[in-house]
Amino acid sequence: MVIKTENGRVVSPFSCGIDTRNGKMDDYDTHVQRYLGKLASMFSDPEAAETYLKKNGDVLIYEVYEKDIPEADGEIRFCSSITCPGKIGGEYFMTKGHFHSRPDTAELYYCTSGWGFMLMEKESGEYAIEEMYPGRAVYVPGYYAHRSINTGDQPLISIPVYPGDAGHDYSSIEKSGFRHIVIEKNGKPQVVENPRYGKMSG
Ligand code: PA5
Ligand code: NI
Repeated sequence: MVIKTENGRVVSPFSCGIDTRNGKMDDYDTHVQRYLGKLASMFSDPEAAETYLKKNGDVLIYEVYEKDIPEADGEIRFCSSITCPGKIGGEYFMTKGHFHSRPDTAELYYCTSGWGFMLMEKESGEYAIEEMYPGRAVYVPGYYAHRSINTGDQPLISIPVYPGDAGHDYSSIEKSGFRHIVIEKNGKPQVVENPRYGKMSG
């Protein structure tokens, strides 16, 4: 039997390799790389980001390898997410973070390398933070915005798996940010309130 998705696409059975040590995916369809130059405003201290850029030039913050699986109900999308080590004004490198466009959809992250955290926040203010390290799985329930944060000195690598029709909604994070950030204090990661929460864009 041939199973067609809503948009008429057919997905054939397949397998692919993901190197658990460096996150590289074989035969990927999409490779997204996000650099500090375009993410400076996401950090709680954008001036520190500008200073960093002037001093070091642009730097890769994170990258994602993806298979082109239809964004449709019934499908399962997965990728490989690699967040580089580093800090901007004490705040650790992190992904942009997002809500799902279909907000009730959950996601599972399986960490294969590195050390860090998954920050999860609901619009209502409830939040949670879970450690990520090799062999650890983090369940992100629906309605939680989520962001991976690398607090180690090696790339933080995980394999996120989520419903095909979840979608990514970056708009409110771009506008308001997360309520919390993770910064280094006395050599250790610490969760603190984001001084720019609610006013990230302007
Ligand atoms: O769907 C997810 O949550 C992940 O695949 C992320 O997209 C990935 O980690 C990159 O983060 P972001 O989408 O916040 O840029
Ligand atoms: Ni997600």
